[in-house]
Amino acid sequence: MKILGFFGKGGTGKTTLTALILRELVRRREGTVLAVDADANECLASVLGADGTPTLSDMLQKYKRQREESPELTGIDIFQNLFDSLLMEGEQDGYEMLIMGRGEGSGCFCAVNDLLQAVFEKTVEGGTYSYLLMDCEAGVEHIARKTSGKINDAIIVTDASKVSLDTLKRIRDVASEVGATIERYYVVANKTRPEMLEKVKEAAESLGFKYLGAIPEDPNFTEVAYQGKTVFDLPDDSPAVEAARKITDQILGA
Ligand SMILES: Nc1ncnc2c1ncn2[C@@H]1O[C@H](COP(=O)(O)OP(=O)(O)O)[C@@H](O)[C@H]1O
Ligand SMILES: [Mg+2]
Repeated sequence: MKILGFFGKGGTGKTTLTALILRELVRRREGTVLAVDADANECLASVLGADGTPTLSDMLQKYKRQREESPELTGIDIFQNLFDSLLMEGEQDGYEMLIMGRGEGSGCFCAVNDLLQAVFEKTVEGGTYSYLLMDCEAGVEHIARKTSGKINDAIIVTDASKVSLDTLKRIRDVASEVGATIERYYVVANKTRPEMLEKVKEAAESLGFKYLGAIPEDPNFTEVAYQGKTVFDLPDDSPAVEAARKITDQILGA
């Protein structure tokens, strides 16, 4: 079981890279894959063509109701049951999808974070998945609150701008503050002009992070999005797909 978390400043391409690597794992039949959309905007599901999947937030509403209706059952039993069905409903062609969804604001998430952590550890980390890909929103503290905070590979997506490169160090600092354990840090450049890649590589290496290479600007994304298609419809020789293939090789090889 390998947990990959995708991080970086908004708009740098976290969702895109998560989807491209998932596509690669599914194509290679690299074991069972769970995709976790941990961003409240829920973009990953639509890039993958898995929108309509019930979300964890929906499930929490059901949990609250069942808790009131069945006081004889323990919270953890109800939660585990609902969580198992949620994963079943998230079954896609070649992978499973779990959407965290919205709900933080209403406070209902905070109340059940302990349950979620317990169930997440048992079902997901001790479970049957070979790969868990998490498209993370704000950063490590957000994900650590809901899961155990154990991540094998943190993949930070960046361009060559200072604001984006600054997130590299911040992610590591926040991870240590919240007690998240991250084994390896990787950096991938996205939508970055070739002459600026050296700067990204230097920034990564100065922190001891491994630079995995770059995903080029790929016009096929616009085409696919325009036609309402998904990442699975990108041609195999699409520049971003080819670059993601090499990046996947490096991640799997580690
Ligand atoms: N390599 C690329 N080539 C072309 N468009 C890209 C590329 N990477 C990302 N995009 C586009 O940029 C936008 C933001 O990417 P996204 O992956 O959603 O960023 P994030 O998840 O980090 O906010 C999307 O519209 C996406 O299609
Ligand atoms: Mg995103």
